[in-house]
Amino acid sequence: MNEHNFLYEVRCQSELSSPAALESWVRENKERFVSKLEETGAILFTGLSVKNAKDFDHFVSMFDFKVFTYKQSLSNAVRINKTDKVFTANEAPKEVEIYLHHELAQTPAYPKYIFFLCASASKVGGETPICRSDHLYSKIMAQDPALIKKFEDFGVIYNSIMPNGNELHSGQGRSWQTTLGARTKAAAEKKIKGLGYSCEWVDKDYLAVTTRVFQATKMLTGGDKSFFNQVLAASLGWKNKSSLGLPPVTFGNGDRLREDSINSMFDAARSLTLLRKWSDGDILVIDNHRVMHGRKPFSGNKPREVLVSLTA
Ligand SMILES: [Fe+2]
Repeated sequence: MNEHNFLYEVRCQSELSSPAALESWVRENKERFVSKLEETGAILFTGLSVKNAKDFDHFVSMFDFKVFTYKQSLSNAVRINKTDKVFTANEAPKEVEIYLHHELAQTPAYPKYIFFLCASASKVGGETPICRSDHLYSKIMAQDPALIKKFEDFGVIYNSIMPNGNELHSGQGRSWQTTLGARTKAAAEKKIKGLGYSCEWVDKDYLAVTTRVFQATKMLTGGDKSFFNQVLAASLGWKNKSSLGLPPVTFGNGDRLREDSINSMFDAARSLTLLRKWSDGDILVIDNHRVMHGRKPFSGNKPREVLVSLTA
């Protein structure tokens, strides 16, 4: 294992093609997989006969983790549920890059493990880049300790705009109605207040939301720290909260991040990123506390279908 190639790969044999054989194999080896996941942050299963949402739901269930549903999450991405616990990764258009992030680190509740099934790999691009965020924390600390100190002293605040109705052209297009589970503007405001956030109605009944302060780093079991946040994805990918003139992320004291800091963190993350081509049937499991993920743009006539299941 090195900083880039931390992925633990399990190549599965053809005798696991029946659901019963697969289930007993997973149950027998589950503890080993979970301890590998704690150690490396990511496991890739290849050669399994898990082909669709139903098979995948069954596979995830074998691990007995607590389900973390999309419906109850404050995810800002538009996703389509395929089963109760399996949904599409993000309906954002293929040319949109989703930059490295920890899933839902900009919200009070985030998953521990993320399961991805590549049901259909695109011909070109479409990789799910992954990056050890504990390594990124150390790298930023070595380059700019004052920056890490500022993140740890003040935390971060996120500014976003929730559309009025889902918008499929954006990576953050989930409407305020579905994100907040609210039918009326009054119900949305009540939910926002309950979260300790603030909000403002802007043009076309879109809702501009400012979160409370969230920690930007996380202490992991074993004593390492990860750069646990959405700073890169928000700074590089989220649309600016232009009507109010606020950037997508600031320090918790309101200070803006400097552009050269964002660029140097991005370069550090890129130098640690593992970019592996998907094959149909691959299953990737990551520890969301330790590993960041993203999505590369894709093209070609073969559809990309990556399904996701989150667990607590
Ligand atoms: Fe994500």
